[in-house]
Amino acid sequence: MAQAFDISLDSLQGRSVAKPDAAGRGAGDPAGEASGTFFLETFGCQMNDHDSEKVAGVLASRGYQQVASPDDASLILYNTCSIREKAAQKVFSRLGEYRTRQKDGQIIGVLGCLAQQEGEEIFERAPWVSLVCGSASYRKLPEMIAQLEEGNRRVTGLDTDTDETFETEITRRDNPWRAFLTIIEGCDKACAYCVVPFTRGPERSRTHESILKEVRELAELGYSEVQLLGQTVNSYADPSPKKLRFSDLLLAVADVPGIRRVRFTTSHPRDFSRDIVEAIESESKLCNHVHLPVQSGSSRVLSAMQRTYSRGEYLDRIAMLRGAKRPIAITTDIIVGFPNETADEFEETLTLMNEVRYEGVYSFKYSPRPNTASLAMGDTVSEDEKSRRLAALQQRQREIQTEHNAALVDSTFDVMVSNKSRRENRWSGHTTCNRVVAFTSREPDLLGTYIRVRITDVGSGSLTGEHVS
Ligand code: 5AD
Ligand code: SF4
Repeated sequence: MAQAFDISLDSLQGRSVAKPDAAGRGAGDPAGEASGTFFLETFGCQMNDHDSEKVAGVLASRGYQQVASPDDASLILYNTCSIREKAAQKVFSRLGEYRTRQKDGQIIGVLGCLAQQEGEEIFERAPWVSLVCGSASYRKLPEMIAQLEEGNRRVTGLDTDTDETFETEITRRDNPWRAFLTIIEGCDKACAYCVVPFTRGPERSRTHESILKEVRELAELGYSEVQLLGQTVNSYADPSPKKLRFSDLLLAVADVPGIRRVRFTTSHPRDFSRDIVEAIESESKLCNHVHLPVQSGSSRVLSAMQRTYSRGEYLDRIAMLRGAKRPIAITTDIIVGFPNETADEFEETLTLMNEVRYEGVYSFKYSPRPNTASLAMGDTVSEDEKSRRLAALQQRQREIQTEHNAALVDSTFDVMVSNKSRRENRWSGHTTCNRVVAFTSREPDLLGTYIRVRITDVGSGSLTGEHVS
């Protein structure tokens, strides 16, 4: 799936993340007693990427040193995803690879959604694993590791009925300019297909005071872009007496000196209210990109999915966004082949795409998951038919994106430069609407700066340009 947008919601790339930050910031000084080394690999969404940053921070603060290869680690941690069956299968094949390389005394631990979902069964399927810990229990990781080092054979951290949010002063951030920041954890929606309410537990919002304090600290460390994270980020409910609305929180974050861009993901259509659009209209630091998963264009399917909005209500939100005073890019997630989805209902998804003309679409074949309501509905659409629907949808989206992109030639964007290519004078970065742009410039050092780039060439999934002064 060619994607011009960089939100990597469910890119299934295994990544070794949360390396010591390039500028050596945000790690906190090792203060604990431990002297071990850890290797941390991450799979899944941005919430997982950021959780890994926090886990790395907690371990580093206890004296553990992060290493780049599992061969050099006393502790191998694997932060997993279970949103679709394929993601879960990949975890077990990866764990098999770790087993073949495992050295005497080396601890292998599974974190994240698959850990929460499978619990102790992971020990049955992969007996070489000795630690299983879900995201609501990461605070307990150092104690769990200490128990293993004291000779316990297996430890688990699987509570989700906790009010705790995993805030930490010592988060390690992987990118020295753009920082992720969780504002709400878990999910209280009950979409019929989704494991997240089970694996990440109930919704817990952080107070606006603690969020703003962290943003000020990030700005002082030199971060200029923050991305507020939550499974349903706009369902944010400030637990402090002031009860700041999500839109007011966005404006307050943008107001922190040093912050130049504020992003947020993922929004739920049900809670997407006009005040959010008004905030984006009024404050140019709020990025003009909204990720608003629709999942299906059919009201009947949406109801079966328990999405709590109809096609018409979703399109009302889109009209509000498209009517905004400055253009806002809209991206979405779509599932094809939900149980009993008919060919006509799938056609409704295509007509919705024609109407919305998304700037980017992440599309998935329905995958039955344990502990979800739709499991009981069976998996009625054949694999072939799901593949056909997915291909038709992606083909339609490529055409729409090509048309969008063609209109961009010769326009100029503000780009935050985040990468230098190995090729001479080649760089890349993001626009405020989260498009990745590759461009040329003869400047010696642009990383972390904001510059103007004129688009010279486009494909369906890429933008190319040149630095202009
Ligand atoms: N099958 C297929 N796709 C799913 N998603 C969530 N659960 C499933 C499932 N069981 C997709 C949704 C969600 C995105 C993160 O993953 O589109 O928005
Ligand atoms: Fe899953 Fe629905 Fe919650 Fe998103 S809103 S995490 S799809 S249950």
